[in-house]
Amino acid sequence: MILITGASGQLGQDLITLCRAQGRDFAALARPDFDFEKPDTVIASFSAAQPTIVINAAAYTAVDKAETDQDAARAGNHTGPRLLAELCAAADIPFIHVSTDYVFDGNKGAPYVETDPPNPTGIYGASKRAGEEAVLATGAKAVILRTAWVYAGHGKNFARTMLNAGRKMPVLRVVADQRGTPTAAADLAAAILGIVDKINQTGWQPGYQGIFHATNAGETTWHGFATAIFEEAARHGYESPEVQPITTADWPTPTRRPPDSRLDCSRLTQTFGVNLPDWRASLGPIVAALLALDAPG
Ligand SMILES: NC(=O)c1ccc[n+]([C@@H]2O[C@H](COP(=O)([O-])OP(=O)(O)OC[C@H]3O[C@@H](n4cnc5c(N)ncnc54)[C@H](OP(=O)(O)O)[C@@H]3O)[C@@H](O)[C@H]2O)c1
Repeated sequence: MILITGASGQLGQDLITLCRAQGRDFAALARPDFDFEKPDTVIASFSAAQPTIVINAAAYTAVDKAETDQDAARAGNHTGPRLLAELCAAADIPFIHVSTDYVFDGNKGAPYVETDPPNPTGIYGASKRAGEEAVLATGAKAVILRTAWVYAGHGKNFARTMLNAGRKMPVLRVVADQRGTPTAAADLAAAILGIVDKINQTGWQPGYQGIFHATNAGETTWHGFATAIFEEAARHGYESPEVQPITTADWPTPTRRPPDSRLDCSRLTQTFGVNLPDWRASLGPIVAALLALDAPG
């Protein structure tokens, strides 16, 4: 039985949807029953569920807020996942954990590979990096997937923010000097379940252990992403705002974002045979879902 944590989040929701659609045996946990800030709940819900594999989609994801909310970020991204990994290690079951492109400073100037040295620029990235190291140190059968720019047809994300802002403002200013890859939570969920299948088919292999990059294919900037979102929305009669390119310096944030956090995902494909499609291919249905979700009136 697959145990999914973070059931209320973007990835958690899309994992649940896919598991249901595929008739998989799974259980899903959310707060308050499963809360990394209350380790007792983690231990109790894990032992009640008796999983054969765990997918951790729970995390502290408020990047800027983390700067002033360090204890919660540490619990959600470091000590909480470490405890879950310890439980998986003790039960001798695989643990699939999710991390971020924000472990990198974004100065490489080319897509990052898994062996590139991390250098997070803020508390969120540092807490996720500490989580990666702590999970691996438990000796659990851990697959750690670094993803990026996650969005979905629900939850809180850039696409939803853009569509709602564009309803109110005729001009939006969007950062055009940060490169990366928008990743659909549904595509990441499908890749994760592909990894589950591979582990089940072959049994655990030593090469599965460690860190893998897992984003959609292709790349863009936040400005390019916003422009593509509005192109898709226009097909549904949405009146698009003007999207003006600005620089990072024009849009200061508490946490500095990596200027170029593209991730090379070839290790994921070579090891597990899973591929995430080009980011543009997944955008249309998500924009349609978000327009329906937030339709005025
Ligand atoms: N979103 C992105 O752009 C992005 C980019 C790179 C990597 N990632 C990583 O991708 C993974 C999935 O992200 P997502 O976008 O699906 O995140 P999300 O939508 O923000 O969902 C996070 C989930 O974690 C839960 N959570 C937060 N704090 C918790 C705690 N202390 N104990 C237990 N559960 C807790 C949330 O529950 P509540 O609903 O109760 O808050 C929610 O279910 C995370 O590991 C994240 O770091 C995300």
